[in-house]
Formats: sequence, C-alpha cells, structure tokens
Amino acid sequence: MSISEIAKSIGESATLKLNATAAALRAKGEPVIHLGGGEPKSKAPHDALTSAAALLNTGEVRYTPADGIPALKQAIIDYTEEFYRHRVEPRNVMASGGAKQAIMVALQTVLNPGDEVIFPVPYWVSYPDMARLCGAVPVPVLPADGSYYPCLDDIEQSVTAKTRVVIINSPNNPSGAMYSAEFIRDVVRFCERQDLYLIMDDIYQRLIFDGRKAISCFDFAEEKGDESKLIAVNGVSKQYAMTGFRLGWAVASAPLIKVMGRIQGHQTSGPSALSQQAAIGALTGDQSSVEDLRTTLENNRDILMDQLSGIEGVKVTKPDGTFYSLVDFRHYEEDSLKLAQYLIEEARVVTIPGVAFGLDGHLRISYCGSISDITQGIERIKLAVASYSPKESSQRSARAADLESLTEPRA
Ligand SMILES: Cc1ncc(COP(=O)(O)O)c(C=O)c1O
Repeated sequence: MSISEIAKSIGESATLKLNATAAALRAKGEPVIHLGGGEPKSKAPHDALTSAAALLNTGEVRYTPADGIPALKQAIIDYTEEFYRHRVEPRNVMASGGAKQAIMVALQTVLNPGDEVIFPVPYWVSYPDMARLCGAVPVPVLPADGSYYPCLDDIEQSVTAKTRVVIINSPNNPSGAMYSAEFIRDVVRFCERQDLYLIMDDIYQRLIFDGRKAISCFDFAEEKGDESKLIAVNGVSKQYAMTGFRLGWAVASAPLIKVMGRIQGHQTSGPSALSQQAAIGALTGDQSSVEDLRTTLENNRDILMDQLSGIEGVKVTKPDGTFYSLVDFRHYEEDSLKLAQYLIEEARVVTIPGVAFGLDGHLRISYCGSISDITQGIERIKLAVASYSPKESSQRSARAADLESLTEPRA
C-alpha cells in the first residue's frame, strides 16, 4: 500500500495501545487501575445537557456557520472578556471541533512546508504530529535548567530564520506546571518583536491550584488589532468535563480567523450544532461545576503528592494545575516505555511513558480518577518498582518493542 510521506511521519497513539493492553487484561478479570487518563470523571454541567436537549427536541439539527453560531460566539466573547480581560468581536472568534482542531486549523493557516514550530519540553503529544501534518518541522525545546519551567532564553536560542510559530501550553499537559506571568509576558513580546505567531493553548486555564489566578496573554500584547499574531485557544473539554462534545475555539485577529474559518469549512463544515448548543449552556449557565472540579482535582493532587513521597528515588514536581503530574523515575529506569509496560504487567497500573512528551525516564500519572485509584495505584507502583531490576526487564524489551512506535497518547 502506498501512503503519503506525511502520513508515514505520523506516530501511533500510545494511549490506544496501552489501553488495548489494559482492556485485554481487564477482559481476563484482572483489576487494572488506570492512571493514564486525560479527562475529568465528573458529569457535564446540567445547563449544557438541557441546552443540547432543547435543540435535539426540535428535531431540526442543521448545518451551522462553519466558524460557529452567533450565540456561541457571544458566549466565547464574554468568556474572553472575563478570563482574558480582552474585548473581541464575532469576527475574532472561531468555534471548532475541540481545542485540538482549533490548533490544527491555526497551524494549517500559517505554516508553509519546511517552517519550524517551537514548543517547550515536556509538550502535549499532538504538537509534533500536528506540525508534521502541515509539512513543518517540530522543534521541541528542553529548558536549560532541567525544570518544567522554560525561560525566554530557551525559546530565543531555538529560533531560526525558518521559525514561524511558538506554541505555549500553560498549565501544561503533562507536567501540570503553570508558567509565570513574567514568562508569558516575555514570550508574547518576543513573538511580537520577531513577527512570530504565538499559539497559547489555554485548555487548562481554570484548573489551577493554590490560589493561582488565570493568566491572560492579551494583557501583555501591544498589537491587538488586525496585525496581531497571537492566537488564544480554549474549550469546554476539561473545565466543564465535556471531552466527548468536541467543542473548542480560537480567538485571534479577524483576518486570521477569516482564513481559519474557510479552512475549517472545507474540513468539517464546522463543529456539531448540538455541541455548540451544549457549549452555550456550559458557558452561560451555572459555573459551580468548574469550581467543584477544580477543588476535587486540587485535593487529588495533594493526595497523589503525599503517596508519591513514599516511593524512594522518584523526583516529583508539584503540579500547579491540570490533572497530570510528570514523575521522574530515572532512578529505576531510563526507558519509560519499558517501565510503563512493566507496571501494566506486574502491577496492573496504566501510566503514560514520558517519551511521548519528549522526556524519557518519566511517567505521566493522572489524578482525575477516584481517590482509591490514586492511593491503590501508587501503592502498587511503589511495590513494583521496589522489586524492579533493569537487567531482568531487558527481557521485557521484546514486548516493549511492541510499544516502540508509541508517541502519542490521546490527551
Ligand atoms: C494541552 C492540550 N491541548 C489541547 C487538548 C485538546 O482538547 P480538546 O478536547 O478541546 O480538543 C488537550 C487534550 O488533552 C490538551 O491536553
């Protein structure tokens, strides 16, 4: 079979394969604990459901404008004013089939083949393949100080004549790190000076802990009109626990949004009418579910940190937000695929290998599940790594080779 060079460059999903192993074990009655998840377990807000149901009840679920219906755009405008302190117009907004599609369409709008896309390590798994899908070159940037917090120097030193886009995701999947306002300010101003597009992936914007306040990239932008190259991406998936609705958005300059809408129109004709209606319900309805989710996650984070402190040799950076932590297991094993495979086989615990996020030797552990999953899962990991022998595990590399092409968990 002949497939395109671009298609050949796209990695297989790590989560899907790990899920398949976990599902096969579960089917055999094995008590698998999943600490690899990428979505909150709470229910979608009631207002989202009734809003979607009202449309469903009319029986008239039609095509919509490709960039979103006016009422949803208005809800996104109001959201932007509240959380970014930035007033925009409908022509600055494109609703999309998830934040993922908003990022993808933005990249397709601005990248030429051979252009470079910079993002800090650890990075969300989809960025490299999204860049490749545009024929562009992903440029992951490892913070020089070895932390999860990049500084402007890290970004600056990776810029070449081919750099066209910088992507910043804070709070970050997979580390949970929330970058400082100073760093966001520096990057916004640097990109303006260098005439680079800056995509701010803010999908975890409201899921932050310890009294932190959401940061707005627009606070630091000098150019806010048609010349702006700043693209803020957000959505309902995480904050409202609405991952399956597939509804996100981009806020950017009107000329950019116009072209993005055109591209999206040819791809999908726009997001589902039902999901748009649900998102209106979520954005304009009772907001208490967001705070409930946030406090649950903060509590889960604290429990996870406490549990992890009992595992000798691992290095933990306390997450500032999200529902992920990226834990350094290099004391036990440099090869995160091998270790993740070992933990499924020996402890029946699913984690995501850090290599998928650009940091081998680490595992992403989610805390969006139940408290008992977190405590039992970490207890099992603790026992399993205590008896881990890298040498014995080299026999496991044959099986881990199976997972070698894994580069991309879904969330
Ligand atoms: C950093 C990051 N950006 C974007 C997305 C995509 O979100 P959505 O479900 O809105 O497409 C995810 C999902 O896991 C994510 O972790």
